[in-house]
Amino acid sequence: MSTAPSPALTLRDGGQADLGEVMTSMIEAFAPEFGEAWTAAQCGGILPLPGVRLILAKLGTTPAGFALARVIAGEAELLLLGVRPRFRRGGIGGALLVATVAYAREAGADHIHLEMRDGNPALSLYRTAGFVQIGRRPRYYRGTDGRLIDALTLSLRLVGAHG
Ligand SMILES: CC(C)(COP(=O)(O)OP(=O)(O)OC[C@H]1O[C@@H](n2cnc3c(N)ncnc32)[C@H](O)[C@@H]1OP(=O)(O)O)[C@@H](O)C(=O)NCCC(=O)NCCS
Repeated sequence: MSTAPSPALTLRDGGQADLGEVMTSMIEAFAPEFGEAWTAAQCGGILPLPGVRLILAKLGTTPAGFALARVIAGEAELLLLGVRPRFRRGGIGGALLVATVAYAREAGADHIHLEMRDGNPALSLYRTAGFVQIGRRPRYYRGTDGRLIDALTLSLRLVGAHG
């Protein structure tokens, strides 16, 4: 029995021309009940700002996910990380996270922060990458059912860290 080879994963920087691809992944990756997805206008608005980087993941020619980050004055923030459900648990989210951390380090950031909804299983991805919880914002997110959910602030120290 022969099986078709899996398409290769590639990561590359993206820009305004890639907003359609980003939204394809955005709409699938972020569950609508938490209202976490950004609109194309929000993404398009942030891309020209200093220190912003969009990283796109593709499997062959198929959009699989993306990361959006910003570095300002020595602080990096991971703004969005999403992988389309059918491509999850294959290392794409981890690869995007590694690429984002590398960008933050190259851009001179001391730390990279992110905020996530309490209860999001992505926590284990971040913990594996070395992030630690540094804060909690009570009742920060509002689900579409009106439920209020805490936000966790996670941080990874880059200065003096290896990798
Ligand atoms: C979080 C997300 C980006 C992970 O993408 P992914 O491609 O599945 O990540 P990886 O395959 O690289 O996962 C690496 C490791 O993270 C952990 N992990 C990732 N997703 C997990 C989940 N749903 N439950 C438990 N552990 C998980 C596991 O340890 C996993 O390794 P393993 O598969 O060998 O067990 C993806 O689930 C997603 O898009 N979620 C919705 C959007 C979102 O919440 N983004 C984060 C906002 S802060």
